[in-house]
Amino acid sequence: MWYLCVFYHRLLDYRRPEVESLAELFSGPGSGESVEWRMPENHHADSPFHLVRLPGDERLAAQVANRSLLVKGIYELWGHGTTYEELEKSVREYPDERKLPFLTPDSTFKIVVDSFGKVISSQEQNEIMQSLTYIPFKGRVNLKKPDHRFFVMETDDYGSNNGLPPVAKRTIFFGREVGAADRHLLPTYQLKSRKYIGPTAMDAEMAFLMANQGLARPGKLVYDPFVGTGSILVAAAHFGAMTMGADIDIRVVRDGRGPDCNVWSNFEQYKLPEPLGLLRADNNLPPWRPGLKEMFDAIICDPPYGVRAGGRKSGGRKIIKGVKGPYTVPDEKRDNHIPSTAPYSLAECVHDLLHLAARMLVMGGRLVFFYPVLRGEDGADSRVASPQFPEHPCFKLIASCEQILSYRYSRVLLTMVKVAPYTEEIERVAEERHREFRENHQKWMEEGNLHSAVFEPAQDAKPDRELKPKYRGKYV
Ligand SMILES: C[S@@+](CC[C@H](N)C(=O)[O-])C[C@H]1O[C@@H](n2cnc3c(N)ncnc32)[C@H](O)[C@@H]1O
Repeated sequence: MWYLCVFYHRLLDYRRPEVESLAELFSGPGSGESVEWRMPENHHADSPFHLVRLPGDERLAAQVANRSLLVKGIYELWGHGTTYEELEKSVREYPDERKLPFLTPDSTFKIVVDSFGKVISSQEQNEIMQSLTYIPFKGRVNLKKPDHRFFVMETDDYGSNNGLPPVAKRTIFFGREVGAADRHLLPTYQLKSRKYIGPTAMDAEMAFLMANQGLARPGKLVYDPFVGTGSILVAAAHFGAMTMGADIDIRVVRDGRGPDCNVWSNFEQYKLPEPLGLLRADNNLPPWRPGLKEMFDAIICDPPYGVRAGGRKSGGRKIIKGVKGPYTVPDEKRDNHIPSTAPYSLAECVHDLLHLAARMLVMGGRLVFFYPVLRGEDGADSRVASPQFPEHPCFKLIASCEQILSYRYSRVLLTMVKVAPYTEEIERVAEERHREFRENHQKWMEEGNLHSAVFEPAQDAKPDRELKPKYRGKYV
């Protein structure tokens, strides 16, 4: 059956992929692909109101809504119209056998009047509820814990560019709630109350969305090769997954900011099972023994792309250039030696990440990571509209969700599924490429330097305020 899926009006690109991932999580392989979508008549794709058909019964719809961050609610739609008269006609036409089981005398219910893009006073809300006399409610009202919750949702009639999606006609929906998001976890996990955070710590909402894209759940092992303060793994652990992380910076994985303020204490703070391990490991020189593969169910990460924090790789400039040979750390310095590192280009970092994932993910496992995209000169989405996302023969891209970060650049959350096994041929090609990156270190550092592209002054720069469209869309 088609349900009305109402989203929170934020992170617009992330909404449908989250529902599809959760359908896959609860209903098994292939289910995400069979989710179908439609827009209600006269609604723009950015509207919070979507119609969805899920590959399962009402239980699946409830599971998806309850686990989601961006679904406000999923509803069995009893009727809709552009006026209250049309709504009444539509609800009356909805089959009795679907309505009556939820209106019985022994049940309790609550009606909520909600709106989008307009405010409805409490007096108007009462009037709306009282106008529903054509629905034969027989049960008792229970505002705290009703058996059934019914929603009247009204959108405004707006053509103007006023911060809301254009081209939506006033619509009134009436539906029975099947499931709703539990956003209570956001205040619990918000970064401002977390013990150990850093400048690039992933905010809680995004970390949960990433964990949903990675299908984190009990029995699965999630790895973050750029673990930092562990924010992404905290979200995966909340959903019951086992976790493991790595970072090139030994001070991050070993010390944090002291014995009670480190990655481990972040897990302790929320009473989550600790990571199985935190490694000091360079994504450019992974520590896995030969032959080890297919260990992780998901790799979820925010790689260091050099806008806020540049990536580093082992070796130091002189060692990479061959001016200096590799050194042995003297025994007396072993305890607190920090190996020298050199800058790590975006292209090499992504290449290494895809190679790591191809080798270490199980078949069907997911790679979820942020990828930066420069926006067109005029701030338009030109390069995002047809971007060249990284590719790999082992992976199929199933979702790309843009979040605009500034006038100059966006980050896109890519979700890839491992669809082909890691072979000796893939390993050989990756090793060749690894050598090529090493031998042409300087060239790769100059090409695709995201930091300078983002921060260099624009030609004929205009103040942001003049250029930003009033309708913010993906800015939220
Ligand atoms: C964008 S931050 C990730 C932040 C993390 N998601 C969090 O919530 O705190 C990138 C991390 O990658 C680490 N890093 C940089 N180069 C690396 C490399 N070659 N291998 C592994 N980690 C690296 C940095 O030390 C930094 O902690």
